[in-house]
Amino acid sequence: MDIRHDASVHEPATTPHSHIPHGPWPEDSLARVPYWVYQDPDNYTLEQRRIFEGATWNFVCLETDIPEKGDYRTNQVGGMPVIVVRAADGSINCFENRCAHRGALIAFDDGGNVQNNFKCIYHAWSYDLAGNLRGIAFEHGVNGAGGMPKDFKRETHSPRKLRTTSLCGLVFATLSDDTPPIEEYLGTEITGRVRRVLNRPIRIMGRFTQPLPNNWKLYVENVKDTYHASLLHLFFATFRITRLTQAGGVLVSPDGGHHASYTIGSEDAPGAAAFREKDLRSERDDYKLADPSMLDPVDEFGDRIQLQMLTIFPCTVLQQVHNCLAVRQVVPKGTGSMELRWTYFGFADDTAEMNKRRLKQQNLVGPAGLVSMEDGCVGGFVQRGIAEAGDKVSVVEMGGDTAESQATRATESAVRGFWQAYRRHMNY
Ligand code: FES
Ligand SMILES: [Fe+2]
Repeated sequence: MDIRHDASVHEPATTPHSHIPHGPWPEDSLARVPYWVYQDPDNYTLEQRRIFEGATWNFVCLETDIPEKGDYRTNQVGGMPVIVVRAADGSINCFENRCAHRGALIAFDDGGNVQNNFKCIYHAWSYDLAGNLRGIAFEHGVNGAGGMPKDFKRETHSPRKLRTTSLCGLVFATLSDDTPPIEEYLGTEITGRVRRVLNRPIRIMGRFTQPLPNNWKLYVENVKDTYHASLLHLFFATFRITRLTQAGGVLVSPDGGHHASYTIGSEDAPGAAAFREKDLRSERDDYKLADPSMLDPVDEFGDRIQLQMLTIFPCTVLQQVHNCLAVRQVVPKGTGSMELRWTYFGFADDTAEMNKRRLKQQNLVGPAGLVSMEDGCVGGFVQRGIAEAGDKVSVVEMGGDTAESQATRATESAVRGFWQAYRRHMNY
């Protein structure tokens, strides 16, 4: 494995902020991660080139977001703003949200409908639904004076275009010609786990954006970290949504980049004694919900899996916590900050009762969620803890030092899988 930075892409650091002693990967092991990888601005720039503009599929919207011709959403692929839009023939286009004139955003709302054309607000250049530059205001000047040069070729000026693909209503985009078809990219097992949840038309219930004070990779690792769930999240363990001692496991795709972890429900809440014996703060048998209907789950997928967390490299999360379903998108915002974009959904055929159940269970997640508020701050704790430790490493060795599927969640296998994929894309 080539662990050097590529000088052709990555110029030596000279700015005052790039003093972090980054360098080659410290050990050729998936179980050690250097802290500079969360801090180094040059590394951040290289991630944009090699991961987000590389051979990866990046979530851009749900098909239900843009049902009609001209319906669009704006989003980001890494740091690059994009527009994703439904074309007249029903296909979905995605292109950079950057005007070919002076670089302004072409669309600045979260979404909407444009019928046939996007028009840049700055000088009114217009683009069709495929991102082709179609119109230039006063192209021939005024009264024979001014205007664009006669040999100016509109067709050679347009924002970058991305390829799109869909899987079960999730829309992904890529800039690279080398990105394999989505099912091949994910592998059979992870594709099956996407299909398990997204098994029929969905209905969007709401969305919001949560700013987090940490590098984007710390959040992706957190979702893949099956070890922390019942230790950090008191609510999970206390109300028996997931515990390490319950049956379950983690599936890691062959290339390491994607994962699905799952907890199988059981009536007898096994393992309570194990938590008590170890004096873990996660076990409180005396706590009860004043209104237990807040949870009141039903086994809607018929397989007793009450929790499934799934990631698609690099930045997509598909969540099933009981009947609370969501897509989360991780959006990098510099080395030490990110946004988490949540879209909650149910199914188009949900009954009123099921809708109410989902709404109640949505109290579990989100910035103030009874479970996930801890994930909102623990990444910041790491970012702060490693402030002056760029040359030190973390220890990611629960469950060994490889990245294969395991029939336990007392493992960091999926986190190591992330680093396996990351290092391959980054050529580290
Ligand atoms: S920047 Fe878009 S038209 Fe000028
Ligand atoms: Fe968590």
